Amino acid sequence: MNKEEVKQQVLSAFEFRRAIKSYDADKKIEQADLDYILEAGRLSPSSVGLEPWRFIVLENDKIKEALYDISWGAKKQLETSSHFILIAARRNARYDSPIFEDLIKGRGMTPEQTETVLKLYRDFQVDHLEIADSEKGLFDWTSKQTYIALGNMMTAAAMIGIDSCPIEGFHYGQVNDILHEAGVIRDDEGISVMLSLGYRDHDPKRPQSRKAEEEVITYFR
Ligand SMILES: Cc1cc2nc3c(=O)[nH]c(=O)nc-3n(C[C@H](O)[C@H](O)[C@H](O)COP(=O)(O)O)c2cc1C
Repeated sequence: MNKEEVKQQVLSAFEFRRAIKSYDADKKIEQADLDYILEAGRLSPSSVGLEPWRFIVLENDKIKEALYDISWGAKKQLETSSHFILIAARRNARYDSPIFEDLIKGRGMTPEQTETVLKLYRDFQVDHLEIADSEKGLFDWTSKQTYIALGNMMTAAAMIGIDSCPIEGFHYGQVNDILHEAGVIRDDEGISVMLSLGYRDHDPKRPQSRKAEEEVITYFR
């Protein structure tokens, strides 16, 4: 396929992708296709390469029922989607916490290199982003990374005709308490966003609408 054809295919996928709330409940995504979508999430980039996420394919009806009342933006999706993914972001991912230790270990650095890089990450979180002393700030930072994976998974799905809906319409505190108590997520995780996947049961009533190019794209020279 030449470049123009690839571009057209990608843009067609973006036009095809809509936030689909209601799915054909009888049409299931094949495992190989789901694996491909999850792989798009796993391969996503993240700040400092931290990969502060887990993708949890929720296949437990009891937990789905428990989430239903406290997830106003996910009701139809919980009922009808083929697959429902919970995206967990790491909590308290400070420069001096275990996730950074693991990151450094994985890179096989010398003690001097470790010291230099940890100082950079410390400055980054303490002085540049100003999040190091805020649990919320740190969670928002790792959550931002998960949204990149979210976007990639939605695009990957759309490229093969699979529908999706990103979901942040839920009560964060209550959802996370339930999932924590049920052992779905660990102490050091929180759900940042959810993703439903499946095949639409009807086309959206409204056409896709976006701001005009000149409103959102600027070249400053
Ligand atoms: C981060 C994020 C969270 C969203 N949360 C919800 C949600 O909880 N429930 C829902 O039905 N749609 C949700 N949406 C879908 C948006 O409403 C939708 O993407 C937007 O209206 C544009 O429509 P389109 O995606 O069909 O082009 C969310 C979208 C994003 C990007």
